[in-house]
Amino acid sequence: MRKPFVAGNWKMNTDSHSGVELARAIADGALDAAGHSVDVAVCPPFVYLQAVAGALSSTSIAVGAQDVYCEQKGAFTGEISASMLKDIGCTYALCGHSERRHVIGESDELVNKKISAAILGGLLPIFCLGELLSEREALETDEVVSRQLRNGLSGLDVEKVSAVTIAYEPVWAIGTGLTATPEQAQQVHALIRKLLGEMYGERVAEEIRILYGGSVKPDNAAELMTEKDIDGLLVGGASLKADDFVAIIKSSL
Ligand code: 13P
Repeated sequence: MRKPFVAGNWKMNTDSHSGVELARAIADGALDAAGHSVDVAVCPPFVYLQAVAGALSSTSIAVGAQDVYCEQKGAFTGEISASMLKDIGCTYALCGHSERRHVIGESDELVNKKISAAILGGLLPIFCLGELLSEREALETDEVVSRQLRNGLSGLDVEKVSAVTIAYEPVWAIGTGLTATPEQAQQVHALIRKLLGEMYGERVAEEIRILYGGSVKPDNAAELMTEKDIDGLLVGGASLKADDFVAIIKSSL
């Protein structure tokens, strides 16, 4: 049985004060649910990770980074390694978020290296993938998602892949208010689980959590979570409002 997992991606929002306040409000609101029946994480900007991790240290809410570099140390000006993130109390790192793929230009190959580096440095990667609107309209969703999945996990053995959470985030649903219907999301989640079964065997495929992300709100979270292969939610905008995020956590139980 896969335990539900709800993660909030704060993107490039909050400041040192409001980030800590938000984390505290989420912790207060989700006290009885987080950690027991649902795993919860928040992913603040790099510069507020340590403060937020401190504010959440006596709670069961974990902290994740929004990105991680693919090397552990050295002359990589401006980059942050997995071991640095681990050192300041991070548990998770998003890898391959659509904004990094499509705004910053990250390739499948770089995402693959980041996933491996995250695991090597002791983090649990949340591997994001999903198709563009033009790809969905051209009926290429399955092909794109399959390619991103296979390339992203390339070289990872069964043991390493168990550290990975997958997040299906159709790009056309991110920040647009256009949520995938539960059926649309389930179709892709089922495809991802089938591919994981082919790559790693049924047992591993049944254990890996697959989150849905893209305009998740308190009023659509519960319905998405009723789908068999939707194991949790990766929330952007609604994770910046403590009440909304707490409501989403509670509807994922
Ligand atoms: P929204 O929930 O704002 O659509 O963002 C989704 C997302 O990108 C989470 O990583």
